[in-house]
Amino acid sequence: MRGVFSLAYSNELAIFVLNNVSIDMSYNLLKGKRGIIFGALDENSIAWKTAERVHEEGGSFVLTNAPIALRMGQLNALAEKTGAKVIPADATSSEDLNQLIEEATAHLGGKLDFVLHSIGMSVNVRKGRHYTDENYDFTTKGWDVSALSFHKLLQSLYKNDAMNEWGSVVALTYMAAQRTFPDYNDMADNKAYLESVARSFGYFFGKEKNVRVNTISQSPTVTTAGKGVKGFDAFLNFAEKMSPLGNASAADCADYTVTLFSDLTRKVTMQNLFHDGGFSNTGVSQEIVDHFSE
Ligand SMILES: NC(=O)c1ccc[n+]([C@@H]2O[C@H](COP(=O)([O-])OP(=O)(O)OC[C@H]3O[C@@H](n4cnc5c(N)ncnc54)[C@H](O)[C@@H]3O)[C@@H](O)[C@H]2O)c1
Repeated sequence: MRGVFSLAYSNELAIFVLNNVSIDMSYNLLKGKRGIIFGALDENSIAWKTAERVHEEGGSFVLTNAPIALRMGQLNALAEKTGAKVIPADATSSEDLNQLIEEATAHLGGKLDFVLHSIGMSVNVRKGRHYTDENYDFTTKGWDVSALSFHKLLQSLYKNDAMNEWGSVVALTYMAAQRTFPDYNDMADNKAYLESVARSFGYFFGKEKNVRVNTISQSPTVTTAGKGVKGFDAFLNFAEKMSPLGNASAADCADYTVTLFSDLTRKVTMQNLFHDGGFSNTGVSQEIVDHFSE
């Protein structure tokens, strides 16, 4: 965890103020662990923050993204910073996934302990198609990228026997899987499918190989994918006012993911875990009541 502390010392003679001092706080939770991190696009990406935190906690990993995303060139900076190798893979291609897993385990020197699926994209959203006017080719493509890719990934890991016992696979999701948020469009359906895959595959992965599979249902977060949702800024502010703890940031999400990759959560599996400052269990907050009382 990167903390900023402010220390003030004062007496009649002197005042010392230390501001913006960045301290590394790591617990070595992932020391010796190996993994693959999907979906770091730029420094705002949840996967980017997670890679930085995993590195701080002693984990080693391969970074991967779709070949087209890699051409944008930003991932190399993260790879350099974290000592990671970059291996391209389209998460909708089982062939790419099998190749990635083979290369990653060879490079890292053994089976994997953690995998992050941080992938999402809706062509309907991108092209401005309303939920009641979907283009089903777009729908199918978005579902393949955002949801079925998780099954493909789990199946490749399972069939290649690529996970160590008590390993942990995490995918990111959003509460639109349970409740309606009109502008989330077909991503709501994709996330419902994704969460179901975590439960269903989690059963078999747990039973056969003692591997955990969970989804984290994250607060709205300012990233490339997040900003693609219509009315995102208004919604971000609304969620902030609704959540007793405020929205969880990408850095907060990285911290939470580290705990799920660690040995401290070995019996947590097949769960959809809300990481949203309390939003999902809040009916209304005082701030929202006050807003409508004006
Ligand atoms: N930002 C939010 O508000 C928010 C909230 C809850 C959940 N999430 C979820 O978090 C995850 C990460 O999104 P983010 O917000 O960090 O945005 P992001 O745009 O930084 O990350 C999305 C990633 O998916 C990758 N991707 C797209 N197609 C791919 C393919 N075919 N193969 C491999 N990778 C592919 C992109 O290149 C990108 O790196 C997504 O699942 C998203 O739905 C985001």
